[in-house]
Amino acid sequence: MAELEVLTDAAILIDGDRIAAVGRYADVRRATGDVEQVEVSGVVYPGFVDCHTHAVFGAPRLDDHERRALGMEYQGIAAAGGGILESVRDVRARSEAELVALTRARLGALLAHGSTTIEVKSGYGLDRETELKQLRVIAQLAIAQPAALTSTFLGAHEVPPEFRDRRGEYLRLLCDEMIPAVARQRLAVACDVFCEPGVFSVAEARAILGAASRHGLGVKLHADELDGSGGAELAVELGALSADHLAGVSDAGIAALAASDTIAVLLPATLIFLGRRRQAPARRLLDAGAAVALATDFNPGSSPTVSLPLVMALAVSQLGLRHAEALHAVTVNAAAALRMATDRGQIAPGFRADLVLCSVSDWREVAYWMAVNPVTAVWTGGSACPLRMGPVSLGTHVQA
Ligand code: NIG
Ligand code: FE
Repeated sequence: MAELEVLTDAAILIDGDRIAAVGRYADVRRATGDVEQVEVSGVVYPGFVDCHTHAVFGAPRLDDHERRALGMEYQGIAAAGGGILESVRDVRARSEAELVALTRARLGALLAHGSTTIEVKSGYGLDRETELKQLRVIAQLAIAQPAALTSTFLGAHEVPPEFRDRRGEYLRLLCDEMIPAVARQRLAVACDVFCEPGVFSVAEARAILGAASRHGLGVKLHADELDGSGGAELAVELGALSADHLAGVSDAGIAALAASDTIAVLLPATLIFLGRRRQAPARRLLDAGAAVALATDFNPGSSPTVSLPLVMALAVSQLGLRHAEALHAVTVNAAAALRMATDRGQIAPGFRADLVLCSVSDWREVAYWMAVNPVTAVWTGGSACPLRMGPVSLGTHVQA
C-alpha cells in the first residue's frame, strides 16, 4: 500500500465508460488516431470510493452535538432519546420525495469532493416500510445523478422503541420479513449490523447476517466501534466484505483480519467528531497485513463530513498512514470492500473511467489540506460531471 506509480506528462485514453490506455502523453498520442482531447493541469487520481455512508437522513443532530460538548457520551445521549432514534423519528415522518431531494444534495457534495462510487446504508427506518423507503430513495438516485451508488440494508442499526422490551421479536422481523423483502425487491446488495455492547450482540449479529447470507446479500459489520466485543472476529468468521470502525478491536481481531480477505474500514472523522481520544490501531492492522480502507461514515450523528480528502488527511495525522496508504485506502481497498476491485479504483486499462482532478502540484496534497476541497473536476464513466462548487447546504435549509 505504500507504493504507487506517479506518471508525469501523462495521458489517459477513454473509450466509452472505460479506460483504454494510460501512459506518457507522447506514447498514448502516437498510438491513437483522431480523438477528442481534454487538457488538464494538476493531478488526476482514480475516482474515490466512499465505502461507508448513511447519506439518507433528515435533519442534522445539533442537540446531540451540544450535549456531547457538555460532557455526555454517545451511549448516554442515545439512552436519553437522542442518537440514532432521533433520526429514526425524523426519517419516518418525511416523505420519500423529501428524502430524495435532501439526499440528492448530499450526494452532489460527496461527488464534488471526489467520491465517484458511494455506498449508502438504510438504518433510520427500523420498520419494514421506512427501511424500504430509504432503500428506494437510494435506488431512485442511483439512476438520477452521476455517482455510482451501492446500497446496504442496516435494519439492525438499533432496536426501535416499539420493540424495546421484545428485542427477540425485532430480530425475527429482521430475519423473517425485512431481509427477505429487501432481497426479493433487490433493494440492497449487502446487509450490515451495528454490533456493539448495548446495541446488537455478537450472537444476534451472527443470526441476522446468517439470514442475510441465505438471501444472497453480502455481509458487513459496524464492528468494535467504541468498545471491543469480538465484532472483527465475527466479520472474519462470516467472510464479511468489511469490518468497519474497529477502534476497540482486540489483538485476536487484528490477527483474524490480517489472515482474511475482509477489509478493515477505518473512519477517523467519526472518532474526531465524537471527541474520542482513541483511534483504530491502523498501524498495527497494516503491519499485521490487514487490508485497510477509509471512508467518511457520513451521517448526522457521528460524522457530518462529505470529504474523503479530509478523511485522508486525518488518516495521515491521526492514524499514522503514509499518503500513498491513504490514497490506496480510498481507491483500491475501498473498492474491494464493495466487491468492485476489478472494476474501479485504479487508472488502468479496462477499469471504469472514474477520475478526479485536483489543482495541486504534488499528489500528496490531496491528503494534506484540511477543510478545503482540492477537487476541481470529476468524471464518472468517462463523462464530465457538473459539480456544484462553493457553499452547499447539507442540512434541511432549502437551497435557492
Ligand atoms: O457509524 N454506529 C452506528 N452508526 C453510525 C452513527 C449513526 C448515527 O449516530 O446516526 C456510525 O457511527
Ligand atoms: Fe456507520
